[in-house]
Amino acid sequence: MNKELRQNHFVFDGCDTVEIAEQYGTPLYVISETIIKHKCREIREDYLLKYDNTRAVYAGKAFLNLEMCRLVTNEGLGLDVVSGGELYTAIKADVPMENIIFHGNNKSQDELQMAVLNNVGRIVVDNGYELDRLNKIAENHNRTVNILFRITPGISPDTHKFISTGQVDSKFGFSMQNNNLYDYVFKTKNMRHINLRGFHFHIGSQLLSNESHLKALEVLLYLIRELNEKLDFVTAEINVGGGFGISYTKEDKTKNIRYFVDPMMKKIHDHCNRYSLITPQVIIEPGRWVVGEAGITLYSVGSIKEIPGIRTYVSVDGGMPDNPRPSLYNAKYSAVIANRYDDKRNRTVTIAGKCCESGDILIWDLKVPAVEPGDVLAVMSTGAYNYSMSSNYNKLPRPAVVMVNKGVSRLIVRRETYDDLITRDV
Ligand code: LLP
Repeated sequence: MNKELRQNHFVFDGCDTVEIAEQYGTPLYVISETIIKHKCREIREDYLLKYDNTRAVYAGKAFLNLEMCRLVTNEGLGLDVVSGGELYTAIKADVPMENIIFHGNNKSQDELQMAVLNNVGRIVVDNGYELDRLNKIAENHNRTVNILFRITPGISPDTHKFISTGQVDSKFGFSMQNNNLYDYVFKTKNMRHINLRGFHFHIGSQLLSNESHLKALEVLLYLIRELNEKLDFVTAEINVGGGFGISYTKEDKTKNIRYFVDPMMKKIHDHCNRYSLITPQVIIEPGRWVVGEAGITLYSVGSIKEIPGIRTYVSVDGGMPDNPRPSLYNAKYSAVIANRYDDKRNRTVTIAGKCCESGDILIWDLKVPAVEPGDVLAVMSTGAYNYSMSSNYNKLPRPAVVMVNKGVSRLIVRRETYDDLITRDV
């Protein structure tokens, strides 16, 4: 990360964050283009160029707007979308439709139709009901749809329960607890408008170990061998999802992409050689790993309340509406006082949001220097699942998003106004 000191100010991708806060106001999401490009380059060099027949798609649910669509497309990544709204954003940003993978455990009729009519590259079918509906839509519009089946490998990863998806008891994907999947694979053979290309799993998010991916892969590789032997089905593609973890505090160490993909690629190649299977195309779909560490959020400090012997609350001008992750997942963040970057951090305070909720605490027990109203707080690693999960709770307008790149800043999403808050009221 590009951090240097300018008059004791925290500098992010060449931009003085205190000046940025003054220029654009707070709270403010600041996204580093340099870091995102760096991440994409790592994916290109250590995965796409290193291994034949591979693809990477960025999971838009982490952070999506027109500029992000353009950026990842220019960097050679496809896009994973999970709703009509995300697909619409991609269409408006001219993302090539063949680069899109459409996910979701309960896609609506309209969403499926929108995906079919726009010739989305892949639809990841979550269940048998969806397969039948999609087949009808494809027939009605006389289109052929390329699909993958999402499987639930039955692997419980080491992460928060709410962001764990690969376990047996999951709302996502075809269960591996019965043999239904074989029936559905068989069924697709007679569906003239459906082209089943292979399988997908996504086991969970913020995984700092590669173990669960490898375990899930074992389940998937066994499946493709069985399907080959029993149904003569050739798996052309496998999609191993995202979930690669990042660093939020000093306790988490970011892993490079090699840590996740190298052992998976080895396992896939070994398995295919051993059983004389055609090696399928391998797709990864990281979200957080691409954008999480590329984002910070700037807040202005307001009231400061010291409860002697108990705790000091430092309140900021945002909170759970712009970052619901601490209250939802007990997520931990680190932060600095941007205008006192180099001062000794000799006090412990708790950073509170401004919502009418006791649970609206962004960071418990943060080490800071002497802090005063008007200071700028910069919370780190907020690039993923902050802007995309923001709300208008307490009728707070959503912050603007500014992209920074080597000392230059530009607005990519304007701040909501009070009028925006009532514009849909009738
Ligand atoms: N692919 C699929 C099918 C997914 O469901 C997800 C995330 C991803 C890829 C990208 O996962 P990532 O690489 O970003 O971990 N709101 C939660 C995270 C939910 C993730 C949902 N699915 C959070 O703030 O931690």
